[in-house]
Amino acid sequence: MAKESSRTPIPQHVAIIMDGNGRWAQKHHLPRLSGHEAGRKSVKQVVQAAIDHGVRYLTLYAFSVENWQRPREEVQGLMGLLRGVIREELREMGKEGIRLRTIGRKQDLPDAVREELETAIETTKGNTRLDLILALSYGSRVEITEAVQAMAREVKAGKLDPEQIREGTVEEHLYTRGIPDPDLLIRTSGEMRISNFMLWQISYAEIYVTPVLWPDFGKKDFSLALDDYAGRERRFGGV
Ligand code: IPE
Ligand code: IPE
Ligand code: MG
Repeated sequence: MAKESSRTPIPQHVAIIMDGNGRWAQKHHLPRLSGHEAGRKSVKQVVQAAIDHGVRYLTLYAFSVENWQRPREEVQGLMGLLRGVIREELREMGKEGIRLRTIGRKQDLPDAVREELETAIETTKGNTRLDLILALSYGSRVEITEAVQAMAREVKAGKLDPEQIREGTVEEHLYTRGIPDPDLLIRTSGEMRISNFMLWQISYAEIYVTPVLWPDFGKKDFSLALDDYAGRERRFGGV
């Protein structure tokens, strides 16, 4: 789709690869899980900053499909942390007008986490200030694979004509259906990679990598990323 070259001061959708919790813990001679716990305040700060700046969608990569391969203890710790955060922040989400959503293989999550999530998603579905999208058991390749499967099933059932498949048809089958593509992708802790995150959706996102470790990332760092974004010229393949 041709879009004109443009500068948009505030990104409508910011996506963040929250990385570096383990390194933060190591730096402070703490167990890895303490790094994840410390990352919680960064989430709160960034959510608040997004609201303050008028960002409409915030996607946080919290747990990848590949992260299930981590030691059992770390995975369990992360799941416990996630459940606690959702429960404890539910009231705040209501107050701030936050709508909680998820992308990813929700069916992989422990029942207790899934139930907590479903309650929060249902309770906050009428909120319109910020869509907070948690990527949980998320993998971009599995997302695309599932979309292909779903479309193949529709073709087989005679509900979809292969010749009529457009980019929009694919988008309708992704976890992100109805959500605009990220304008800005932030990755903390300096790694120059995407790690299977929103491969389709970030086609034209502006990328910002900061060496700051996720537990050290706060409102100021978020503002710096937005300032950097505001200076970019987005061309979308035009001139
Ligand atoms: C990101 O921090 C959090 C998750 C992937 C769940 P890491 O745990 O990957 O931290 P590093 O990369 O080891 O420092
Ligand atoms: C990406 O971080 C996943 C999340 C932030 C949830 P990882 O730490 O898992 O990615 P790699 O292993 O550095 O690519
Ligand atoms: Mg990492």
